[in-house]
Amino acid sequence: MPTPTGPALMEKLVALCKRRGFVFQSSEIYGGINGFWDYGPLGVEVKNNLRDVWWDVMVHNPPTGPDGEEVQIVGLDCSIISHPKVWEASGHLGGFSDPMQTCRQCKRLFRADHASEALAESRWVASFLETADSRRWAEREGRKLAPGLALVRNTQAVLGQAEPPGRAGRLRWAAQTEQMCPECGGDLTEPRQFNLMFETWVGAVRDEENKAYLRPETAQGMFYNFKNVVDSTRVKMPFGICQVGRSFRNEVTPRNFIFRSREFDQMELEFFVHPSDTRRWYEYWRQTRWEWWRSLGLADERLRVREHDRDELAHYAKDSGACCDVEYAFPFSGDKGFTELEGIAYRTDYDLAQHQKVSGTRLEYFDQDRNERYLPHVIEPAAGLTRGLLAVLCEAYTVDESRPSPELMRFHPRLAPIKAGVFPLVNKEGMPEIAERIYKDVRRHIGPAQYDAKQSIGKRYARMDEAGTPYCITIDGQTVTDQTVTVRDRDTGNQVRIEAEQVVEYLQERVGR
Ligand code: GAP
Repeated sequence: MPTPTGPALMEKLVALCKRRGFVFQSSEIYGGINGFWDYGPLGVEVKNNLRDVWWDVMVHNPPTGPDGEEVQIVGLDCSIISHPKVWEASGHLGGFSDPMQTCRQCKRLFRADHASEALAESRWVASFLETADSRRWAEREGRKLAPGLALVRNTQAVLGQAEPPGRAGRLRWAAQTEQMCPECGGDLTEPRQFNLMFETWVGAVRDEENKAYLRPETAQGMFYNFKNVVDSTRVKMPFGICQVGRSFRNEVTPRNFIFRSREFDQMELEFFVHPSDTRRWYEYWRQTRWEWWRSLGLADERLRVREHDRDELAHYAKDSGACCDVEYAFPFSGDKGFTELEGIAYRTDYDLAQHQKVSGTRLEYFDQDRNERYLPHVIEPAAGLTRGLLAVLCEAYTVDESRPSPELMRFHPRLAPIKAGVFPLVNKEGMPEIAERIYKDVRRHIGPAQYDAKQSIGKRYARMDEAGTPYCITIDGQTVTDQTVTVRDRDTGNQVRIEAEQVVEYLQERVGR
């Protein structure tokens, strides 16, 4: 069986993620909570590795900019709850909403722009369109699959009207509406705006005055700290401020595993430039961010950059008209083929101007080189960390029936949760002692390693393949006589014999730290 695609891949991947401890449903023993996920012992390692690689290329070893100079970026870690005025200034209180429809029968909520997609995937629609006998279907399958459908609720009345030909006509006839519920077939209300921010109260009194919000994006912390960063560091225009952290959105339809959740991590950069210099920085970041995802092993044919159409632009990019997404071909991307992984937006001076206006604090920058005072403009590459993790998991999942355990995770070595497995072939004849020494060296110099002396070597390889461990080192009878070990490569299954003393160097070259 080759590596599955589409829904079959998601099913296998979700099962492996739970079985091997990558991702668990939050509070699963209580039945779970929709849109919230926990990252298990292996998942947290991959997620942290992705975060660290991002932080490294942003803050510690930033790339070379379009002018050949090293890009300057500093980091921040801001509070999740901030002054509520932040969200008034940013436009989130007024505008951060999705149009939402409610089913009048089952009361479920749907994002208006997702309802038709969900309907196309709905079980009741597929089942109804397959039948030629509407009455029989209404009295049998319909009762279970679509209890809210007019044809099921008022069978006689609907059957009394002529059944039109064609799929769309038949559906409209059965539902007696254009707006049908993907879950139960009932009818949906007109779209109403629904604000996505989670509310909370600061202090003991739960009134309007003490209301606060969990941040829906990490970006605003970089804007309201702009002056602090300029005053406390030696950054000069152009420069960036970035952070990685949790964001919260009360998504109407969280779906597709960790792709759209209600609590997630973002990795965002706000890059401040002179207003005349925005085009080349927009293009620079668009190229740089796409290359970064490629460098982590996401395949070219599953990655693309797509410019937004005018009607999809976020409120802060309406004036600039420049916004694009790095998109990945997730297994659930369906007919569109690709879905958003990271957004790159030219936000103009929208945010700084808004914070300046609402806070009354001057946020202009004095540019000594230009002898000019101005509000910088911003290019924002905003990536999802948890969404990035999902792309990495989808890319890594591979089925190879020729192996003892056919499922393996082909992670890029820098992202792999365990860098090497270390196995004594047998638990005697001096092998465990050498294995233990190598294991400790690998942990100290390379990163997480796994010592495994249980069951056959084949089973140990299989366990490491499922965890995505790039190398396995086996200490065998020959090691005791000539101090050499075998190193097995996860992707090829090939083994080489090297000096035990060279293991750390060998891994350093291939895995990095
Ligand atoms: N500051 C701009 C901003 O937040 P966004 O496109 O709404 O822009 C940026 O979010 C990235 O955050 C997205 O490209 C996606 O990777 C991730 N993201 C957004 N909403 C998410 C959700 N509900 N679940 C998981 N990731 C999400």
